[in-house]
Amino acid sequence: MSISFPTANQESATYPERLQIKHLSDPNVTASTNDGSDVIAGLTQEQKTIPCHYLYDDRGSEIFEQICELPEYYPTRTEAKILRENGSAIAQTTGNCELIELGSGSSAKTRLLFDAYQSLGYPLHYIPIDVSAGMLEASAKELLREYPTLQIRGLVGTYEQALQHLPSSPLPKRMVFFLGSSLGNFAPKQCQEIFQEVTNALNLEDYFLLGLDLQKSKDILEPAYNDSQGVTAEFNYNLLDHLNRRFDGNFNRQNFQHWTFYNSELGQIETYLRSTQPQTVQLKALDLTVEFGEGETIRTEISRKFNLQQMEQELAQEGLKILNTWTDPEDWFALLLCQVKQNIGSSRPSRAIHNFYR
Ligand code: AVJ
Repeated sequence: MSISFPTANQESATYPERLQIKHLSDPNVTASTNDGSDVIAGLTQEQKTIPCHYLYDDRGSEIFEQICELPEYYPTRTEAKILRENGSAIAQTTGNCELIELGSGSSAKTRLLFDAYQSLGYPLHYIPIDVSAGMLEASAKELLREYPTLQIRGLVGTYEQALQHLPSSPLPKRMVFFLGSSLGNFAPKQCQEIFQEVTNALNLEDYFLLGLDLQKSKDILEPAYNDSQGVTAEFNYNLLDHLNRRFDGNFNRQNFQHWTFYNSELGQIETYLRSTQPQTVQLKALDLTVEFGEGETIRTEISRKFNLQQMEQELAQEGLKILNTWTDPEDWFALLLCQVKQNIGSSRPSRAIHNFYR
């Protein structure tokens, strides 16, 4: 049943000359911000929290891919449709440019952009950024098989780390893209910081493509974060397994419940793990002991839902001019193509050049 083709050797099958990956959380590369100090800070607050990037270990990234396929989880397919229909308009507007993706994951939607740039005859230069090394590497290899002109220089790290360590561009223009409404994980002040990190990493006239989930009825929003198959709950519980592994902890996922709701005043989904009993948890590598009362919660994620008019103002304040906004017919999701017109938050040079790959 399987046909075997003459196979290339392992070396050429992985296209080493077209793939470079840097691990920014490696202390040999940069001062590590993944030392768990952010976990200590979060778990010692009145409302306990855990930074949401800890949801994305390799297993978490896999579960997230399953979430994207759920019937209740509309954002992925809605955004994909907008990208499929408008990718060529995006590529025509920006022209040839280096593509830099924040939170690349499986790069499923990235392919829609690649197709658009490729059909204009542009060679593809791609910098995926992700905290999950396994996911980044696996997707990169797959992409290289599919796109013969593609060159990849991936960065494993947080958005902030990566944006501060972008290698210099082989092309005159760049576009940072941030899809899936991942911006929604960040509070307004953090969003402002991200916009500044993006504009600082870019040159004037470079591009920023942003996917945003828009405000809508609770009846659509809540099931998207509490699906009937329990995949989103598993995604949430996996956070505890990840912390256990990473920081020698003893969280027992059985003692927590997935809890999520839409806070319509703040326009955000809030997701928690709720302790079903009084308990004490230790993270030995962090020298941290955490007490939970019965019913006490850890907030594990916020997913903000955006208002377009408001977002337009916030982008403008950061020197980002919106060139085009596309939405689906129901106005559930929006894709904004912006251009850097000013470099507001920066005292640094507009683009940090690091010879990381040399
Ligand atoms: C990847 C952050 C956009 O908030 O909708 C999906 C993550 N969490 N289901 C979102 C998520 C639970 C997702 N983002």
